[in-house]
Amino acid sequence: MLILGDSRELLRTVPTGSVDLIVTDPPYPTIGGGNSESGTPGHRRPSGMLASNNAKGGFEHNDIAFREYLHDLFRVLKDPGHIYLMTNFLNLEEAMAQLRRHGFKLHNLLTAKKQNVTPNRWYMKNAEYVLFARKGAAFPINNMGDAMCHDWTNPVGAKSHPTEKSVELMERYILNSSQPGDVVLDPFMGSGATGIAARRNGRRFIGFEIDPPYFATACKRMGVMPCL
Ligand SMILES: C[S@@+](CC[C@H](N)C(=O)[O-])C[C@H]1O[C@@H](n2cnc3c(N)ncnc32)[C@H](O)[C@@H]1O
Repeated sequence: MLILGDSRELLRTVPTGSVDLIVTDPPYPTIGGGNSESGTPGHRRPSGMLASNNAKGGFEHNDIAFREYLHDLFRVLKDPGHIYLMTNFLNLEEAMAQLRRHGFKLHNLLTAKKQNVTPNRWYMKNAEYVLFARKGAAFPINNMGDAMCHDWTNPVGAKSHPTEKSVELMERYILNSSQPGDVVLDPFMGSGATGIAARRNGRRFIGFEIDPPYFATACKRMGVMPCL
């Protein structure tokens, strides 16, 4: 089920404990001082980042704070259940603190290699960070031989979304933390990478997206009729 709209409102309509797994790449400020819940993000370039990376190729709706949706993500997730939340270096500390504050227990910080490297004076940033956490009792991933550094490369060149993620990366998380028939949620689906991965592996999918063009792209890529 794909729905166009604001996930802060749409999440309220999702029944408590009805989602088996959450895999999401949420919006956050990319050139401010990160997503500080205690103040308004500034609009300066973070230390170390080069001018050529200044907000190029961003998307419009990127100013949402973790506390605006994490309480609902915790509520809708089954107990026990896993969540994968993507973030960047600037927002990592806040993301970890907010996950804990909303009741999640952190398991690991996963990384995924990307090819579209962010220019930086102090090591080029060629990795995505993915916080892996749980609600309720601990349970193992399905492939216990899997490692925390993933070598899937990000889509480059003509992309469906400025921050498009690799379907194979999402697939790995879905295969490790859910079963066929389970419900996977991505409240910030963009062009639909999580949804494609879920459907490819026989999972049911709930996806929300606020931006009509990205929503249309996700529907097209998944070959499904949208719920408007
Ligand atoms: C980081 S991108 C996700 C990209 C996605 N992983 C992909 O592969 O295309 C985050 C998405 O969340 C959307 N978004 C921002 N605020 C939202 C909100 N309140 N409700 C629903 N979607 C929102 C943005 O429009 C953007 O497409």
